[in-house]
Amino acid sequence: MSPPLRQLALQFAALIAVLSLAWPYYGVRGEPLPWGGVVIAIGGFGAVLATLSRQPWWWRLIHGVFAPLAWLVAQLDIDPGWFLAAAILLLLVYRGALSGQVPLYLSNRQTALALAALLPSPANGHTPRCADLGAGLGSLLRPLAEARPDAHFTGIENAPLTWLGGRLLTLGQANLSWCWGSLWQASLADYDLVYAFLSPVPMGDLWQKAKAEMKPGSLFVSNSFPVPDVAPSETVAVDDRRQTQLYCYRI
Ligand SMILES: C[S@@+](CC[C@H](N)C(=O)[O-])C[C@H]1O[C@@H](n2cnc3c(N)ncnc32)[C@H](O)[C@@H]1O
Repeated sequence: MSPPLRQLALQFAALIAVLSLAWPYYGVRGEPLPWGGVVIAIGGFGAVLATLSRQPWWWRLIHGVFAPLAWLVAQLDIDPGWFLAAAILLLLVYRGALSGQVPLYLSNRQTALALAALLPSPANGHTPRCADLGAGLGSLLRPLAEARPDAHFTGIENAPLTWLGGRLLTLGQANLSWCWGSLWQASLADYDLVYAFLSPVPMGDLWQKAKAEMKPGSLFVSNSFPVPDVAPSETVAVDDRRQTQLYCYRI
């Protein structure tokens, strides 16, 4: 079961369990359900189920507070349309978090400069090519394309609003192509360097794709998330505040 479905199932199980006891109990007594207490019980039971099924600590916390917070917010009597609008907006930006457990966070300028040094120089009429898989708003590729006018860069992004933001921000950069689509559908055969800043979840599969498609001698670089069980050929420590590590794998 995928993680979002698993969490939904846990919360739903807590809801059903508490309501199936509370409803008949208060129904028989002819009393209205005390919703404040009921939602606290749902949260508590959800947290217990999450603990018993060994979910990470942040999921236990979310299960504990979800129902009470939902009930509290419902008391504010906000038009439901606002919640729909907020959910759509989040989906347009964070689509990757839902479909592949890859949220949006951005590379910094120091990382772009470190990558500029890793990209080969043009040789024998060949322009070096670099792709950012899940390119976000172009925070990496914009400074990189500026720093390396002798190379060509491609950003691939599949969250609609993020893609649009990146498209607008990269307008006018002649050596940068901005593509809509899934990184899993993109061919990696033409690139000398492929960069990914995703999450631990896709790294195993992405490495299989990189190995199968990238040309010999090219470089696969993952920001912060190493490929499981594969030793990098080099690790570059970026001199920035978060001590970024670039895991480099020579194909
Ligand atoms: C952590 S952000 C990195 C953004 C950018 N590479 C940077 O370093 O600033 C990851 C990005 O990957 C995108 N993403 C996630 N899954 C994707 C997929 N299957 N295809 C394309 N983009 C994806 C997300 O929408 C998000 O913008």
